[in-house]
Amino acid sequence: MEREGSGPSSLLNGATPGNGSRPRDAADAAATIGKSFPGRRPAPATMVIFGAAGDLTKRLVVPALYNLVRGGKLPEGFAMIGIDRNDETTEAWRSNLTNMIQAFARAGGGERQALDEQAWSSLVNRMHYMRGDFTQAETYGRLEKLLNEQCGRQGGTGHVLFYLAVADRFFGPVIEQLGRAGLARQSETAWRRVIIEKPFGHDFASAEALNAQILKVLSEDQIYRIDHFLGKETVQNILVLRFANGIFEPLWNRDHIDHVQITAAETVGVEARGRFYEKTGALRDMVPNHLFQLLAMIAMEPPISFDADAVRAKKTELFQALHPISPENAVRGQYAAGVVLGKSVGDYRREADVAPDSGTETYVALKLGIDNWRWAGVPFYLRTGKYLSARTTEVAVQFRQAPYALFRDTPVERLPPNILMLRIQPDEGLSLSFSAKRPGADIEIDGVQMDFAYRDYFAPLASVGYETLIYDCLIGDATLFQRADAVEAGWRAVQGLIDAWAKTPAEDFPNYAAGPPLPIACSRAMGAHGCRSGPIIATRGAAHDRRAVLLSPFIPAQAGIQGHSLRPLGSRLRGNERREKRCIPFHMSHDLPCGASRCRASSRNGF
Ligand code: BG6
Repeated sequence: MEREGSGPSSLLNGATPGNGSRPRDAADAAATIGKSFPGRRPAPATMVIFGAAGDLTKRLVVPALYNLVRGGKLPEGFAMIGIDRNDETTEAWRSNLTNMIQAFARAGGGERQALDEQAWSSLVNRMHYMRGDFTQAETYGRLEKLLNEQCGRQGGTGHVLFYLAVADRFFGPVIEQLGRAGLARQSETAWRRVIIEKPFGHDFASAEALNAQILKVLSEDQIYRIDHFLGKETVQNILVLRFANGIFEPLWNRDHIDHVQITAAETVGVEARGRFYEKTGALRDMVPNHLFQLLAMIAMEPPISFDADAVRAKKTELFQALHPISPENAVRGQYAAGVVLGKSVGDYRREADVAPDSGTETYVALKLGIDNWRWAGVPFYLRTGKYLSARTTEVAVQFRQAPYALFRDTPVERLPPNILMLRIQPDEGLSLSFSAKRPGADIEIDGVQMDFAYRDYFAPLASVGYETLIYDCLIGDATLFQRADAVEAGWRAVQGLIDAWAKTPAEDFPNYAAGPPLPIACSRAMGAHGCRSGPIIATRGAAHDRRAVLLSPFIPAQAGIQGHSLRPLGSRLRGNERREKRCIPFHMSHDLPCGASRCRASSRNGF
């Protein structure tokens, strides 16, 4: 069957222009590229959402559809059928969603916005509710009837996208029922696709078993395993940064990169998800999926095109080249009561549906190695946690030091490192830090920074992060979705650690007070790379020190550089302001000073 979206993924879609002269150029270029891939129009289709009354549907899927309608991206004949157990009418469901979308529009990025009534009514009038038990065959019989009616209205095409916004235990059963009812069968005029939410399995064996189960009903190209991190513009931008620019790729290897740090720090706790989180923990919840997606974007080999298979093959190869992670290279933490964003919060162990002696980690930091020619010997540090002091997701690529100090009095390692900092969220953008000479008779070196912020170049695009993913699925572009082998390879890489931690429960939990300074990391896992100052969370007793559950104030750019970016050309700093702005800490070494006097260096020419 032919795929509508045979061009490259939406990575190359046009960008929205901002104001000013440079944005125009950028927008023009993007539009040119976008135009060269026609055929990215979805055909009329019906989306069937299992879990219609759930949180995901309300908070993300429906708002994403609303944004797609506003952007003119949904096809005319689009319709939606919501299924859930609740005994609701279509009218009641629509009215609930209308209340929700009104609140969503009001919240709109911090600014009060009115609902786009026309867009919403055109969407909501195409939404139908069906009560049904996902595990019962009769539900699927009734669904078939509804789909046939819908197909008549859509000119007989019969394309259906099934969206599984349900608890993971239903993934297999729903797909089996779809298979038994014949609803997964495709024809020349009708594609059938299934979006599966995270978590896809809870370890390697369960992911493998789930793949085997669903692949009995569906072919791989019908399956769209979502990782919502790939819906983020800044994550997609990593590939553009690497492969649409000539300057980075020649440096993108073990000869020039010292190490990479990937951080996803959250200011939320487990919220109302104690039941899920208690059996999941930070490692399973974030690492083999979201953090590995960032890792793949940074570390994969260049694909031969942006075609789904080309990109996904390279990602899988990367995951397969990961060293199994050993417990010596990882630390775990669990939050205790503390203060986050000025609010007092309680112990993880006192959250609803959490055991009072819970051994579940809410923080994980680990060191990874990649066995290939490009990355052999380059450490990748990954960390993520709940209830930290600031919300930030970022990738810091630190380049090797200059090989030789021209400045005899200053050891080369005292020079500020070059760090390419990719800010995934919030404050989307990137920066490059480097050394510059302070004006004056002496040779004094300061770390400075060039900064690109999305908001300076592009008008904000209303997005909850699911728009691109739903749209790509409608056009049959699976580039941003997980293939079976990649999911399994991701789990395989963390399986040793999952097993080791299951065998040796942490004895020192809880071991960090909610709201520690950010980012944090473990000294032992960081090895030679920084984190030399004292721990903010001392482990209890020397025995634990051995396992290195020391979470130290860390590093780089976010902590040190934020607020120190170079000003736009032409703007002038005033008096004292100048001094403050330029006092840039040495990011990887907290025991190094940040004052100019200690940065001072003399060249061998005797300046
Ligand atoms: C989800 C995890 O997949 O991603 C959550 O289950 C986590 O625990 C969330 O909070 C983070 O996503 P984002 O987009 O808010 O960074």
